[in-house]
Amino acid sequence: MAKPITQFICGQCGTVHKKWIGRCDGCGEWNTIVEEAPLSAGPAKSGLGAGKGRKMALMDLASQEAPPPRHPSGLAELDRVLGGGLVPASALLLGGDPGIGKSTLLLQAAASFAAKGLSVVYVSGEEASAQVRMRAQRLGLGAAPMALAAETNLRDILTTLDETRPDLVIIDSIQTMWLDTVDSAPGSVSQVRAAAHELVTFAKRRGVSVILVGHVTKDGSLAGPKVLEHMIDCSLMLEGSSDSHFRTLRSHKNRFGAVNELGVFAMTDKGLKEVANPSAIFLQRGEEVSSGSVVMVVWEGTRPLLVELQALVDDSHLGNPRRVTVGLDHNRLSMLLAVLHRHGGISVGDQDVFVNVVGGVKVLETSADLALILSVISSFRDRSLPQDLVVFGEVGLAGEIRPVANGQERLREAAKHGFTRAIVPAGNA
Ligand code: TYD
Ligand code: MG
Repeated sequence: MAKPITQFICGQCGTVHKKWIGRCDGCGEWNTIVEEAPLSAGPAKSGLGAGKGRKMALMDLASQEAPPPRHPSGLAELDRVLGGGLVPASALLLGGDPGIGKSTLLLQAAASFAAKGLSVVYVSGEEASAQVRMRAQRLGLGAAPMALAAETNLRDILTTLDETRPDLVIIDSIQTMWLDTVDSAPGSVSQVRAAAHELVTFAKRRGVSVILVGHVTKDGSLAGPKVLEHMIDCSLMLEGSSDSHFRTLRSHKNRFGAVNELGVFAMTDKGLKEVANPSAIFLQRGEEVSSGSVVMVVWEGTRPLLVELQALVDDSHLGNPRRVTVGLDHNRLSMLLAVLHRHGGISVGDQDVFVNVVGGVKVLETSADLALILSVISSFRDRSLPQDLVVFGEVGLAGEIRPVANGQERLREAAKHGFTRAIVPAGNA
């Protein structure tokens, strides 16, 4: 009789190991390995005794059938990120820091879908029904035709859903759900994985869409279950900084649409409001421009965004001067400072360098390179750049300035907001 296989899996990166080890080979993290229940509980037969499998029905790839229609939510910014609306029988994951507005967004989306005729069930594992109802009333959605439940037992939830067969289920949050077949605490990697697997399988089999809320850990990954990302069709992140009321919604994976599309919302006392024209919302500069500040045009999904970048360069009293970035890639800063030294002859080796993208925006694009270099020089020399100047462009290791995509659109957007000067790569002029 074959022994059931116990496997050990890293909660951080999902690497599977044969035995328990202290440090994961995959991601190098310590103490992230957890034991998984045996894969097959029953004795596995082999050879002729195993019997035959069931014959599957094979289908032609080419088919006359039209794909099932998407359901737009009516929240244009959400639909933009989803790639046009909710796909039937799809599984979505919405991640974000606690308190960022995940429950608010999903309650609004649920009400919106319900108003369009979808049957929606909102299952809250974190709040009591009365709390959710109170929030809905405050948002002016008290009368939305949707069903509500406060439950964490997944067996009960699935039984109920199997009888109700709604179009959409919202699970807030996956970390609170538990299966009685899994022998560990709710929120543990095994529970989250098993619960998500049950829900996603249910979604596919019964043609129900599910949206799972997932919490983000301190280091910014989706709580352990980076593993979850393989199971789901679409992974969204709601982000923002605590001092700004703007929230950005970004898709990191989308089987049915483009990734890196950005949706922008503003948190108000009446919930999340869409920001239809977000290009300059992060710009709040006064008349006086201080040194180290520069405006860049970054490209987000299908839209240009004007954002202010600030640098502070100051004498360091440390043997190893600090390099701190907020909203930008740390390694990129180190690389650009090396380029600045080697090809620009400006050394900041004895200086602390801090760079910050204003408004809590995360910039992933290399078009910010030139702006970053200029802001560092501006702060280092303590000379401010003109107020009506925008900058964008990629900088290579040889010190060359490379053109970026959508140059014309970026310049046009900057001109619309009153910028009259631009420093851009020759190829974009
Ligand atoms: P919530 O959706 O509960 O966050 P999450 O589910 O991501 O943990 O949002 C909580 C925050 O949003 C809370 O700090 C209050 C704020 N908020 C508003 O400012 N206006 C509103 O209308 C609502 C419902 C919440
Ligand atoms: Mg919540």
